[in-house]
Amino acid sequence: MKTETLLSAARAARLRAYAPYSKFLVGAALLTEEGALITGANIENASYPMTCCAERVAIYTAVHAGHRNFKSIAVVADCSPPPSPCGACRQVLWELAGNIGVTMGNLQGETISMSLLELLPEPFGSAIWNDNPVNAAMPDREEMWRIPVSFHPVGYVINSYQAPGNLPKNYKELLSEVVIDPEMEEGLYRLDEEKNITVISYLHQARGYSLKDKRSGRGDEIYGVFACRAPLRPNALAQSTVELVQIRKNILTVKGLDLINGTPVLDIKTVLPGQ
Ligand code: THU
Repeated sequence: MKTETLLSAARAARLRAYAPYSKFLVGAALLTEEGALITGANIENASYPMTCCAERVAIYTAVHAGHRNFKSIAVVADCSPPPSPCGACRQVLWELAGNIGVTMGNLQGETISMSLLELLPEPFGSAIWNDNPVNAAMPDREEMWRIPVSFHPVGYVINSYQAPGNLPKNYKELLSEVVIDPEMEEGLYRLDEEKNITVISYLHQARGYSLKDKRSGRGDEIYGVFACRAPLRPNALAQSTVELVQIRKNILTVKGLDLINGTPVLDIKTVLPGQ
């Protein structure tokens, strides 16, 4: 993954900071050896020392999500020179990630790249994952299915539908674009052989759900949430089958997409013959 992609994820993460006291928003994006991307932003508290920096939010989130092998981290804030991780974060990164690459960036595009050991020479302690029998093998326990999974979108939707709930009536005839992460363009190889494709997305503006309710698409009759396609669901995932009109580089033009502008796309798949 390009450093610019990691910086861009950190810039986006920065906007989820909770920093009412300092008003200094920081975003961090961690890359694992396996290619997963996990982000964080600083979260402050009225009791100031309780504040957690963006870097620690990212690494704690990643560890809890089950990641163990880290490659690099990007940190972005609106300052020049770019933000340098504080001492506490350097120590925590050393403990959990070892000698990863650290890229510091700002909104003007200035960047500085160093290794963690350059930032924290003569460190105390070391990464323990491989020596710790409890952590080395994560047992698949019966309750493990309750742990949340995290996905990183592969692209997003561009069209003129701005608000959920008012898609134009003739949306089936209208065109949308699905922009795939340019770094993943190769994954589109031979997709042009398909007439229809499935777009799996995350309905980012959906909030809340009821398990059993009136369903507008079903004449206001009562159905369970798993017995309909309602957007308000425990996991607001959508699966849309659309006509593939054209592919130009990393941009798909599709017909009949029922998603609003900016919807994150999690996956693109072909449709099983006969479906
Ligand atoms: N902060 C970070 O999130 N990362 C750093 O590397 C330095 C500082 C946050 C903590 C606090 O919310 C704000 O920036 C001001 O210190």
